[in-house]
Amino acid sequence: MKDLDWKNLSFGYRPTDYNVRCYYRDGKWGEIEVCSDEYLKLHMAATCLHYGQEAFEGLKAYRCKDGKVRTFRVKDNAERLQSTCRGIMMPEVPTELFTEMVNKVVRLNQEWIPTYESGATLYIRPLLIGTSAQVGVHPAKEYCFLIFVTPVGPYFKGGFSSNPYVIVRDYDRSAPLGTGKYKVGGNYAASLFANNLAHEKGYACEFYLDAKEKKYIDECGAANFFGIKNNTYVTPKSTSILPSITNRSLMQVAEDLGLKVERRQIPEEELETFEEAGACGTAAVISPISYIDDLDTGKRYSFGDQPGPISKKLYDTLRGIQYGEIEDKHGWTNVVIE
Ligand code: PLP
Ligand code: COI
Repeated sequence: MKDLDWKNLSFGYRPTDYNVRCYYRDGKWGEIEVCSDEYLKLHMAATCLHYGQEAFEGLKAYRCKDGKVRTFRVKDNAERLQSTCRGIMMPEVPTELFTEMVNKVVRLNQEWIPTYESGATLYIRPLLIGTSAQVGVHPAKEYCFLIFVTPVGPYFKGGFSSNPYVIVRDYDRSAPLGTGKYKVGGNYAASLFANNLAHEKGYACEFYLDAKEKKYIDECGAANFFGIKNNTYVTPKSTSILPSITNRSLMQVAEDLGLKVERRQIPEEELETFEEAGACGTAAVISPISYIDDLDTGKRYSFGDQPGPISKKLYDTLRGIQYGEIEDKHGWTNVVIE
């Protein structure tokens, strides 16, 4: 294993030894290639550069207490990428190819998987891009699917601790019938300005309302939102948010723990009624929210400076399953290294 200060790792890019690639040409996927080059040679008219034919995924591998390395819900990430592919006219990456490439890249870079105690993990980043030339707005004929990995620490400073968020009304991340439900780079480009603004004002993250009415909660930066009240896990239903696999898992975990689960529109004012609130995602895991400011109305919705008991229970249970310490009764984990 590499001799790194795993405990103090930030969420950033760090080179590892190998990435894996597969090319789509003449209507079919080729062989998996192992590569040690961090760079891509691209045609200057590639559709990924001009017309945003770019999709990515995010998942993690965990070095567990029992010495094994596990991944979490790989099939679901493969299926979400397939949905994105349909959304922006790219060829679907079959689940078997996706899974084989994930397993391969994790095994090839096992020296880079952080230690169990560190709290850091190996972040897995699949990327699919249109590579052939077009000048008219059309999909490419050729594609490159690659996966790299990088060891990461917590997405927000402090890990499982509460952070303040700010509602942004002047910026939309995605439109109701747009690409918000797909994991495409354009959505993140659309979020950069608002995210920077939130940071400049001292907040951890920007918080989006629905683009059409500015009435309902959408999501928080690169994570879904959940609120807890009356023993109920409440999370937004919206056509413009990413269907988070962490959120889907938490809905199931909440149900397993005896909570009620509601997935529905959440009007902004309802924030006032939540006892706990948090952001959830692969990078964010669960990031409890201390308060959300609405600078236009001067309203502050507060949920406490410390993570609440239900958020803690959800966090511990999810982590327990991911690290193979709590029974994986839904079959979410794969052992990649015995
Ligand atoms: N929402 C957005 C915009 C994201 O980028 C992410 C991260 O992938 C999520 C939500 C959380 O999704 P997941 O739990 O599948 O990582
Ligand atoms: C993830 O949680 O995997 C994300 O994609 C968040 C962000 C790093 C883009």
